Amino acid sequence: MEIYIDTANIDEIREAASLGVLDGVTTNPSLVAKEGVAFHDRLTEICDVVKGPVSAEVVATDHDGMVAEAEQLLKIAPNIVIKLPCIVEGLKACKTLSDRGVKINMTLCFQPLQALLVAKAGAYLVSPFIGRIDDISGDGVELIQQIRQIYDNYGFSTKILAASIRHPMHLVQMAMIGADVATVPFKIIQQMMKHPLTDVGLKNFLADWDKGMAMLKKTEPALA
Ligand code: G3P
Repeated sequence: MEIYIDTANIDEIREAASLGVLDGVTTNPSLVAKEGVAFHDRLTEICDVVKGPVSAEVVATDHDGMVAEAEQLLKIAPNIVIKLPCIVEGLKACKTLSDRGVKINMTLCFQPLQALLVAKAGAYLVSPFIGRIDDISGDGVELIQQIRQIYDNYGFSTKILAASIRHPMHLVQMAMIGADVATVPFKIIQQMMKHPLTDVGLKNFLADWDKGMAMLKKTEPALA
């Protein structure tokens, strides 16, 4: 499963990239607004750090406006992926831009039929928001299962990008179902390599090692 970071914070992106396992970045208007920076400047910075797909979302809600915004965003870097909302105008813009070879991430996907249509329109990525479905007592994980089955039934190549990830267990579930990508907040990326038993085990290994070496120094100084 590919791992993207879901943020517009450049420090978080740099730190996640330094792990060596980051495949891409997703941003959205809320995440960019939180940073208080110029959108295009921040995208330029992000694309300097991460060479994989970097999703940049349009704010227009009509076909022509979306296409015009996309054209500007595409000038920023070759790895920009255009993020469009799963609405009728977004579907049309997805078809127009995909036909031109532009990579499209169809966002705000909450039901399997949206995923079916955007795949038919040539989307590169579809972003179902699983956490927001869970937030209203739905089953976000089930949505990913449904989309996986539909895409596999018909051989669609659109990648399923699980978004709105709330906790590490979501990631385990996504990997088991076979989501192609998960976009993950920085806090959860930090949790991914953590387990208290790893920390305790390592602490004990090192303490035992020190004890053993101290003992050896006393009994066999030449070997220590
Ligand atoms: O980037 C889209 C998505 O991941 C947003 O997540 O936490 O705002 O539901 P959230």
